Amino acid sequence: MQVLAVTPEIFPLIKTGGLADVAGALPVALAGQGVTTRTLIPGYPTVLSAFRKKKALHQYPNLQGGKASIHAATVSGLELFVLDAPHLFDRAGGPYGDATGADWPDNWRRFAALSQVGADIAGGAISGYAPDLVHVHDWQSAMTLAYMRYGEAGTVPSVMTVHNLAFQGQFAAAIFPELGLPAPAMALDGVEYYGGVGFLKAGLQAATAITTVSPTYAQEICTPAFGMGLDGLLNLRAGDLHGIVNGIDTEIWNPATDPHLMANYSSKSLRARKANRKAVEDRFNLVSDDSPIVCVVSRLTWQKGMDILAGSLDDLVAAGARLAVLGSGDQGLEGALLAGAARHRGRVGIVVGYDEALSHMMQGGCDAIVIPSRFEPCGLTQLYGLRYGCVPIVARTGGLADTVIDANEAAIAAGVATGFQFAPESAAALGHAIRRMVSAHADSAVWAAIQKQGMKSDVSWDRSAQKYVQLYKYLIAKGQPGG
Ligand code: ADP
Ligand code: GLC
Repeated sequence: MQVLAVTPEIFPLIKTGGLADVAGALPVALAGQGVTTRTLIPGYPTVLSAFRKKKALHQYPNLQGGKASIHAATVSGLELFVLDAPHLFDRAGGPYGDATGADWPDNWRRFAALSQVGADIAGGAISGYAPDLVHVHDWQSAMTLAYMRYGEAGTVPSVMTVHNLAFQGQFAAAIFPELGLPAPAMALDGVEYYGGVGFLKAGLQAATAITTVSPTYAQEICTPAFGMGLDGLLNLRAGDLHGIVNGIDTEIWNPATDPHLMANYSSKSLRARKANRKAVEDRFNLVSDDSPIVCVVSRLTWQKGMDILAGSLDDLVAAGARLAVLGSGDQGLEGALLAGAARHRGRVGIVVGYDEALSHMMQGGCDAIVIPSRFEPCGLTQLYGLRYGCVPIVARTGGLADTVIDANEAAIAAGVATGFQFAPESAAALGHAIRRMVSAHADSAVWAAIQKQGMKSDVSWDRSAQKYVQLYKYLIAKGQPGG
C-alpha cells in the first residue's frame, strides 16, 4: 500500500513540537506493516540542506507567486517529496514565523501552496507515482483535501489527523480568490468558516476519515468545552472520527543506548540514572541532595498549564522537591518561571530555549516530569518519561489520561501504577499530586515499582500503527466500486 503523507514538520529535519515526532516515526512503524509512506514537506532551509538536489520531478512556473519544484529525497530512512519554493519557504526563522516568533503574514499562501502540491501529487503529477490514500496532518496540510475535492483529478480516500484543534488556520474571506478553488468551495460544507476561510475546517469537511491522537481527546473535541468552535462539525462526523494514541520512536528514545545521556541504563540498572541527575543539577544550578527533581520539557503556554505550574512553585519547594524547567514560549510565563527560579535559588532552575539533547538528559536524570496541560491531544513527553523511568505527573485530560495510570493506593497495591494524575487543573490539585509524588519517592520500594511499571508500558508505535493500517485498508476497500 502506498500512502502520501503531507506535513509541515518532520523529525529530524524540522520540529516545533510533537507533530514532527509523529510524522517522522509513523512511516517507520507503518513500513513494518506493509505500508510505504512518502511524505511531502516544505523546503525550509534545514530541509534543503539535508539532501542533494537532483532533477525536479515536477515544476511549477508559478505556484502562489513564484517558481517551485518537487524533489525526491531520502533522509534518515524517510522517503520525502520536498517542495522547493524559495519565495515561500526559504527563510530564516521558524517554519511558521520569523526569529521573533511572529507568524509569517503569508502563512495562508505558504500552506495553501503546500496543500495544492499535495493534491497535485495525489492526482498523478509525478509520473509513476499513484498513492492509494492521502494522510494529512493539522491545518497546514488540511487544504490538500479541499484541493482534491474540488480539483479535476480523480480522488483517493483520505485521513485527516488533528494534532491540536487550537490551531485552525483561520483567515479572512479576502484570500479566497487567491486559493485557486472554484467559487462553490466557499460554502458552509466547504472551506467557509465563520465568514472567513478555515483550513482545518475545510480538511475536516473533506476527509474520508478523521483521526486525533488519543481516544479521550476524540471524545473531548465533540464537546463545546474542547471543540473550539468545531464541535458541531465534529459531531456530525462522529462516525468517521477515530482516536488513535501516539507511540514514540523507541530507538531514538531508548535509555539503554541514548547517546545524549551521561550514563545509559535499563530498568535493572536504575542506579545509573544518578550520573544523569548530577548533569541536570549542574546544568540547572540545583543543589545536590536526595530530594526528587521534577522536570518540565515544554512549550511555555497556557495550553500546557505553565501558569498553573508557576502558581504552585512555592508549594513544590515546600513539599521538598526541586524543579528543572526547559522551555520557551510566552514571555509572561517565561518571566513568572524565571522569577520563581530567582526566589528559590538552588531548588528551581530554568533554561529558556529549545534543546533536544538536554531534553533527553532530563528524562534520563530527573525523577518525575510534570505536564499540567489544560488540554492535551496526546502528549509525548509523558511517554518519554514512562520509557525513561521519569515518572509522569499529569493533568487528567486527553492523551495524558489515556497513557498514565494513577498511583492511588489500589493501583500501587496491584502493581499497575505508572504515574500521578490530578484534576481539576489548579495549582492546589497540582500541589496535592506533587506531595503524593514526594511521599511515594520517599519509599524506595514503592518508587522503583512505579518506575519499572512505567518502563514496561508499551509506548511503541506497534499497536497504533496497526490501527492506522486497519483504517487505511477499510477506507481503500470502501472507496473501490463494489468494495
Ligand atoms: P506539543 O506538540 O503540544 O508541544 P508534545 O508533548 O506532543 O507537545 O511534543 C512536544 C515535543 O517537543 C516533545 O518531543 C518534547 O520533548 C519536545 N520539546 C518541547 N519543548 C522542548 C524544548 N524546550 N527543548 C527540547 N525539546 C522540547
Ligand atoms: C500536538 C499536541 C500534542 C500531541 C502532538 C503530536 O502538538 O499538542 O498533544 O502529542 O501534537 O500528535
